[in-house]
Formats: sequence, C-alpha cells, structure tokens
Amino acid sequence: MGARCKTAILISGSGTNLQAFIDQVSAGTLDLELAGVFSNQPDAYGLVRAQRAGIPTACIEHGAYPDRDAFDRAVMAQLDAWQPQLLVLAGFMRILSAGFVEHYRGRILNIHPALLPRYPGLNTHQRVLDAGDEWHGSTVHFVTEELDGGPRILQGRLPVRPGESAAELGERVQRVEHQIYPQAAGWVGEGRAVFRDGGAWLDDKPLTEPVIRTFE
Ligand code: GRF
Repeated sequence: MGARCKTAILISGSGTNLQAFIDQVSAGTLDLELAGVFSNQPDAYGLVRAQRAGIPTACIEHGAYPDRDAFDRAVMAQLDAWQPQLLVLAGFMRILSAGFVEHYRGRILNIHPALLPRYPGLNTHQRVLDAGDEWHGSTVHFVTEELDGGPRILQGRLPVRPGESAAELGERVQRVEHQIYPQAAGWVGEGRAVFRDGGAWLDDKPLTEPVIRTFE
C-alpha cells in the first residue's frame, strides 16, 4: 500500500481508539493519512475529536434508510469520496452488509475487546469475569462476513486481577487497545500485514495464530 495509506475511521461513540490514532499520527509514530472520520451517531464525541484534529467528518443516521443495504450504500458513497485504502472500525456499532464487506474486501479492520475466538459479541468483560478466566484482552482482525470472526492479526493480552470489576477490567483493556490498534493498522498501512487467500499474512507469512503482546 505504500506510505501514508489513506485511512477512514468509523465510530459510533466516544472514540478513544480514534484519539490514539490521531495522537500517534501527529507524534509521527504512525504513518497513516487520516482521510476522514465517519459516524452513524450525530452526537458521537469522536466527531469532536476529529474536528479538533482538522480531519474531515461525516455523519449519516440509519433511521432515514429503509434497510441495511440502502444505509450501507449511502455510507459507501460517503467513504468513497475520501478514497480510503483502509477502513478502521473503532467502536462502530453496526453490523455490515455483505455488499459493504465485499466492496472493501481485505481492507477493513476491527478491534474486538476479547481474545478471539473467545467471546465474540457484547459484554465481554463481564463474561470473562463470570468464567473466571485468567487472561483477557483485545484482538485486531480483518473483517469478513462473520461477525467478530475474520482473520486475527494482533492480540494484546493482560492478566485478570483478583476482585476487579468489569468496568476496571474494561478500562485496562482499552489502554491496551490504544497501543495494539494503531500498531496493527500501521502494519497494514505499510503493506506488511495483508489479507490474502482468506487469511491474514504478516511479512509474507500466513498468520495461523495472531501476534500476541502481553501487558501488565
Ligand atoms: C472498543 O473497546 C472496541 O474494542 C470496541 O468498541 C470500543 C470503542 O471504544 N469495538 P472507543 O469509542 O474507541 O472509546
């Protein structure tokens, strides 16, 4: 993909992951061009973060569209105006249509707050505590039609602390996300990580398991 990969970030809420991208790009530690930030929620605080950073923003609410395909077509038209080479889903709370995934095949990243394939879906922190797991974390993966099921690139894992609440655990996981998500997106931007033959590859080798970073 070459340097300064044009990247669009899709959000629905607070946008702390978006902020991590903004901070790393402005610090020069992440070589992406943040071409635009899209939200499906007009009051998403991430839109304010983007505007402060001088990044173009757009918002389309799904309520105005009859179905998912019609909404996704409108989103694609907006995104394509920015000519992104990479889409970064950062707390974008929408299920993507097959047409959307096909349109950007191999160029969509997501971060999911669990050590996939464990705990796809919602309420991951509480589910980890309920199960008594020793480890929790977050996963950056390519997006396919399978929800939270696409090929994994990078995981950040951390030990669950005795007695901590789901909220405390969730905050620690988010701090991990702010490191692993820009790192994995940087690999894609540099062309080191690619989606090939239905899987994730790093430095020309298939990733049968994701790269794992361990945090405190
Ligand atoms: C992150 O925890 C991510 O794992 C999940 O949505 C959350 C987004 O948080 N997909 P923020 O909006 O980046 O703060």
